[in-house]
Amino acid sequence: MTGKKTIDSETVMTEMVMPNDTNPLGNLMGGNLMRWMDIAGSICAGKHCEAHAVTASVDHVSFHKPIPLGEIVTLKAKVTRSFNTSVEIFVEVFASDIKGHNPRKCNHAYFTFVALSDETLKPMPVPRVIPLTAEEEQLYESAIRRREVRLVLSGRMKPSEAIELKNLFEAF
Ligand SMILES: CC(C)(COP(=O)(O)OP(=O)(O)OC[C@H]1O[C@@H](n2cnc3c(N)ncnc32)[C@H](O)[C@@H]1OP(=O)(O)O)[C@@H](O)C(=O)NCCC(=O)NCCS
Repeated sequence: MTGKKTIDSETVMTEMVMPNDTNPLGNLMGGNLMRWMDIAGSICAGKHCEAHAVTASVDHVSFHKPIPLGEIVTLKAKVTRSFNTSVEIFVEVFASDIKGHNPRKCNHAYFTFVALSDETLKPMPVPRVIPLTAEEEQLYESAIRRREVRLVLSGRMKPSEAIELKNLFEAF
């Protein structure tokens, strides 16, 4: 299967925080932000895989900075690496007011999506990722370790099988 560049599936989604999206303090609800991150990530995964892709897992998400009512939220999703039937998608969240003032990065998370065949609805092979920039190379290289962490934490891999993590810890 031929490889695809990160830029080919990069996805940018923009939202405005409306009253229905907020908590009682007037800031964006964490769950609503996660929903937008999931949507941006699944579009990106679907574009890379050229298939519908379901969310298999979400790594750690922290909410460092509140995003108030009326602010503009920009979500950027890009594929970092593919494996057999799954892809890792890096989603970053930025906010500013409508005039572009107070621009800031609010959080990010790594999502794993699995591509499903239209015919069987079973996991299907996905194109590999061709990293081009230094940042893409770094995200590509480190993806293998994040995969091991999430597979160990979800009980799908024995800690003794996490070779990349073992090598990393032995290097210190
Ligand atoms: C994701 C799903 C398709 C995996 O099905 P499965 O029968 O476990 O399939 P497999 O064992 O062949 O695994 C398929 C891929 O999923 C990955 N995967 C499964 N669970 C995972 C997890 N918790 N974290 C990371 N990757 C996971 C596997 O590593 C494998 O990736 P690879 O082929 O690139 O190595 C299935 O669990 C599912 O349909 N889950 C529900 C998805 C969904 O509805 N999400 C929306 C939230 S409700």
